[in-house]
Amino acid sequence: MADAESLIGAALAHDSARKHVTGEALYIDDLPEPPGLLHAVLVLSSEAHAAITAIDLTAARALLGRDGIAVTASDIPGRNDVGPMSGPEPILAAGLVEYIGQPIVAIAAPTLKAARAAAKLVRISYERREAVLDIETALAREMFVSPPHRMQRGDAAAALARAPLRLAGELTIGGQDHFYLEGQVAMAVPQESGEMLVWSSTQHPTEIQKMVARVLGLPYAAVTAQVRRMGGGFGGKETQPAIFACVAAVLARLSARPVKLRLDRDDDMMITGKRHDFHIRWEVGYDGSGRLLALEMRLAARAGHVADLSPAIVDRAMFHALNCYFVPDVAVAGYACKTHTQSNTAFRGFGGPQGMLAAEDMIDAVARALGTDAIEIRRLNYLAPGRDTTHYHQPVEDFILPEITDQLLAAAEYAARRRTIAAFNAASTNVKRGLGFAPVMFGISFTTTMFNQAGALVHVYTDGSVQLNHGGTEMGQGLFQKIAQIVAASFAIDVAAVRLQATDTSKVPNTSATAASSGTDLNGAAAEDACRQIKTRLAEFGARLHGGAAGAVVFRDGRVTGDRWSFTFAELVAQAYRARVQLSAAGFYATPKIHYDRATASGRPFFYFAYGAALCEAEIDVATGESRMLRADLLHDVGRSINPAIDLGQIEGGFMQGLGWLTCEELVFDRDGRLRTHAPSTYKIPTARDLPADFRVRILESAGNREPTIHRSKAVGEPPLMLANAAWLAIKDAIAAARGGGAVRLDAPATPEAILRAVTHHPENVVSQKPRP
Ligand code: MTE
Ligand code: MOS
Repeated sequence: MADAESLIGAALAHDSARKHVTGEALYIDDLPEPPGLLHAVLVLSSEAHAAITAIDLTAARALLGRDGIAVTASDIPGRNDVGPMSGPEPILAAGLVEYIGQPIVAIAAPTLKAARAAAKLVRISYERREAVLDIETALAREMFVSPPHRMQRGDAAAALARAPLRLAGELTIGGQDHFYLEGQVAMAVPQESGEMLVWSSTQHPTEIQKMVARVLGLPYAAVTAQVRRMGGGFGGKETQPAIFACVAAVLARLSARPVKLRLDRDDDMMITGKRHDFHIRWEVGYDGSGRLLALEMRLAARAGHVADLSPAIVDRAMFHALNCYFVPDVAVAGYACKTHTQSNTAFRGFGGPQGMLAAEDMIDAVARALGTDAIEIRRLNYLAPGRDTTHYHQPVEDFILPEITDQLLAAAEYAARRRTIAAFNAASTNVKRGLGFAPVMFGISFTTTMFNQAGALVHVYTDGSVQLNHGGTEMGQGLFQKIAQIVAASFAIDVAAVRLQATDTSKVPNTSATAASSGTDLNGAAAEDACRQIKTRLAEFGARLHGGAAGAVVFRDGRVTGDRWSFTFAELVAQAYRARVQLSAAGFYATPKIHYDRATASGRPFFYFAYGAALCEAEIDVATGESRMLRADLLHDVGRSINPAIDLGQIEGGFMQGLGWLTCEELVFDRDGRLRTHAPSTYKIPTARDLPADFRVRILESAGNREPTIHRSKAVGEPPLMLANAAWLAIKDAIAAARGGGAVRLDAPATPEAILRAVTHHPENVVSQKPRP
């Protein structure tokens, strides 16, 4: 069976599933090493903020001899700047260091051991300056990497003043290391005429191409970037790989040898940025029924030493700061604070999770103040399609959370379990249980409208086999498999006939990052466009040669059939070749409908929304602060699933990664700004043992996306991460039980220490109730 009906929605295994588990899948460090390859290491700053007064490379160079090379910022042939939004963002510190871990010197030698030995001999002198490490100080000094931004509707201050009830709260939310299994790596191989070929573990090969060209002083056309797959990216390979690809390229240019730079885990964690930690304040006005009337929220993120993607990430936090709730008068302010720490970057959800957690914290506080079930407050304040707009003035057209909520709560037996848990808690002193419910409404599209475009290049060979190139990158999420199914379905051929190619800037140019969960939406549609062009040519050719109308030709079950004629796909392709019909096509797609004016913070930044909801049951030990998930029920909307096995994997994986962010993953910096948790020995990611004991994950039965996306599917990469907000709320609920009710302040992550603090803190310190004066 090979047609759209059987291939779209088929739970086929990931194209590389076997290769992943057998170790046959090639990552960049597995590629055959070109002769003469040098291995690179970086020398990092030991100071958070300092002027570099001297760099002494004498001893290092003496050790390296003629076989190796040591370079600093002043050796860079082109511009020392990889800033994706605004610059300059140096690859090697030039005169000034702005965080502990910042690369200053790059060294390459025939062996990694020799490079490391030389790196140890580098002497750097500093003149220390005062370092700003935290959000509060940066806010107080108005240190930002981009100007503060506001989104608003109505008059929040006036509406707050007249609201019958008011509450204020604050919340700190920790960051998160990406912990991709494959660390950052790049290999640069000089070509003739000064051209450069770069393999990079990147979500954004075009960015690598541009940045390498920039640091080498070359036109973009002189650089080619390639990647077959990443061992995980999670946003950490959207911009940051440029530093390593550019260092490798500079070393390769200056040594005229191929150079590989593969970071070890500690260096990777010390150098690269993470999910932004946030400090959030909110004040909400509401009435006695729990209806929200006014909201003021301030979201402040720790951006680190340069902008990177922080302005866009703070924007997305602001877009999601009301999650799926309607508040008539609202003002949201966002700050991207400059600090002398790693440059925080994209991470699954791109600020959305932090904004959404603030909304849920606020709803939870209102419910506790009123003594009402928080789910009732949520339902009461859900957006109404046709009636409401979001606070960035996008009309709400499709809103399915009421149905999702009903279905999930029924399947999870919410009401009965509430009673069971109340009885359990009444009888138990040291162990308490809680339930948390979280809805998710996540906007799909890059909020920078121009990024919402994609290309593909499809080749049909004369035996009927197909090579598929598109601009998206594979990082484990199953993008290649999904697009292979789209292409096979379009030609109605076996999916095994479609060969997946490494992503390559010389095949598909000017691509966007594979990010914002839009990989399939964009590249899948572009690939289908290419297939459509080839099919049109084949149909016209077949009709011309064999008779009938081109419009009546059908592709089905490996055959192409017209009026009184039928051939296998391969037969017709061979005939078409002999008749000199082009069997290759470049496809293109640009998302329709979207537009956004950042100056007025209004428009339709999102093509559509992805929805989901989760109910979690947590248990805490009141004496130790430990927590675990007893049960989690997830219901998630993927529109019409292209591959339910892959979608389910994304939902489970996203939830678990969110659970790690909100419970066990804690980044600890010391007083000097040195990251102390830079290896798995001190930084705890969730493992199989942290899975909810009873884990029930379902894909919502759906007639498909209301918008005409590829096969009416919906993006799935990021939204499920935010389902883990339910786990955090469940822990909060258990804490409330331990405290005997009332307000709770719980910062994220809910580590044992944070849980103990929340159990013992006084409510007056955490949420201030302000009844009308
Ligand atoms: N899943 C796996 N296995 N590995 C990853 O690195 N990255 C996530 C998500 N799921 C990631 C993943 C992020 S941050 C995004 S934006 C999307 O996948 C990107 O891929 P997509 O657009 O094809 O969904
Ligand atoms: Mo994902 S954070 O958009 O790479």
